[in-house]
Amino acid sequence: MPDIAFVKPALPRNGVLVLPMTEGDPPAGLAREAEEASGGLLSRALEAAGFKGRKGQATTLWALGGWTKVVALGLGKAAELGSEGVEAAGGALAPAIAADREAYVAADALDPKLAAHFGLGAVLRGWRFDRYRTKEKEEDKPKLERIAVATSNTAGAKAAFAPLRAIADGVFLARELVSEPPNVLHPTEFADRCRGLERLGVEVEIMGPKELKRLGFGAMLGVSQGSAQEPRMVVMQWKGAPKGKKAKPLALIGKGVTFDTGGISIKPAAGMEDMKWDMAGAGAVVGAMAALAGRKAKADVVGLVGLVENMPSGTAQRPGDVVKTYSGQTVEVINTDAEGRLVLADVMWYCQERFDPRGMVDLATLTGAIIIALGHEHAGLFSNDEELAQRIIAAGSAVGEKCWRMPLGDAYDKQIKSDIADMKNVGGRPGGSITAAQFLQRFTNGKPWAHLDIAGTAWTSKDHPTVPKGATAFGVRLLDRLVAEMAEEG
Ligand code: BES
Ligand code: MN
Ligand code: ZN
Repeated sequence: MPDIAFVKPALPRNGVLVLPMTEGDPPAGLAREAEEASGGLLSRALEAAGFKGRKGQATTLWALGGWTKVVALGLGKAAELGSEGVEAAGGALAPAIAADREAYVAADALDPKLAAHFGLGAVLRGWRFDRYRTKEKEEDKPKLERIAVATSNTAGAKAAFAPLRAIADGVFLARELVSEPPNVLHPTEFADRCRGLERLGVEVEIMGPKELKRLGFGAMLGVSQGSAQEPRMVVMQWKGAPKGKKAKPLALIGKGVTFDTGGISIKPAAGMEDMKWDMAGAGAVVGAMAALAGRKAKADVVGLVGLVENMPSGTAQRPGDVVKTYSGQTVEVINTDAEGRLVLADVMWYCQERFDPRGMVDLATLTGAIIIALGHEHAGLFSNDEELAQRIIAAGSAVGEKCWRMPLGDAYDKQIKSDIADMKNVGGRPGGSITAAQFLQRFTNGKPWAHLDIAGTAWTSKDHPTVPKGATAFGVRLLDRLVAEMAEEG
């Protein structure tokens, strides 16, 4: 992870020079100085390379003047410039300079806040998960140590970057949890890593099988019973609301299936390794709690994660079993692969009963059907509360984590009627993501709730401007933004 330093503008005459440039405008500030120092060669070279300053464009010029590299980054039209555009430019920087140790970014013509967002984009895209690479060749390793970002207002840029840095740390924590292999990150290990948040001032409680049994978490324990790994529920509390401004907390809930084989309703072998990231909802919740605590958010937020491994074995739950949830409602388990909703059912009921939250948002890699519906572009959003739904959509689009509202309704709810219990855990193929959400809604006790099905957005097979391929940490930035807008304003 490179260091980001905000420095006073002073054009370097060697090394790696990075020039963020708007479309159709002449070079300004340090870029103009560089243009003059090159005797006009810079703009001729950029023109010859077809660089126009379009959003996302990145052009590298080699050995120009005394510089080893000049990297021009397109910001798009000046009039349309916002945080997302500069983050994308910062993101484009990361691969262009991965082999360099240092780079100097001439961001002096940008608003200092945008300079900070440029830094955020660069670190978000530059992250990678290296823990298990032991034989990588020296020349293949990324070397970047320091990015100096020149800005007209170093104090302003530093102040703007501090909370963004905390958000980036939250994103990295979530990406790391999601990337870890399932033999390492079982429920006990996941819970132990949550403990790490105490360092940031988060209160962390961990409950194991004895307490969960005593509470009566029959649905979650049913999923867990086929595994040699013990289940855990982790309750994290961040109490940042100023005294005298205490209100009901916002609650974040995550599905944490550290590996989903499907259980007795076992999944096909091909691609099953992907099911290590069936805990991405829980990862996003932990990452968001880290971001909020790291930037000392002025809000009260609770985070709960239900952690289990779904395995087939002689002790595993069977299709046909009836389990009693913590709410008292009974569930006929038709398909042991529809396990996420069983875990969430108990955690959600517990959450609303204990915290009476003003809003409860769950994140879960819940259904393959949401990938069929929305692909990898949007998470599926389901909600019983109009305002909460609109706020989530707005928060998501502000940070590039898009959500698309999906319907709920009685007709869908009928699909999960059971002949022998209060409900069954699957509703057939039609509307598979919706019937999963209907199931969850039965455990909200009518309180304001939203569900994000992130099965299509938790992992990516290609690079994005600020998200390298692999674990996306989808939800961390959205939740951080949601808390800022819903609970910290005023
Ligand atoms: N974890 C899966 C959903 C999933 C699928 C996430 C693909 C990411 C990628 C979930 O537990 C599951 O198995 N859902 C079933 C539900 C079905 C049995 C009703 C599914 O989607 O097939
Ligand atoms: Mn499953
Ligand atoms: Zn699952």
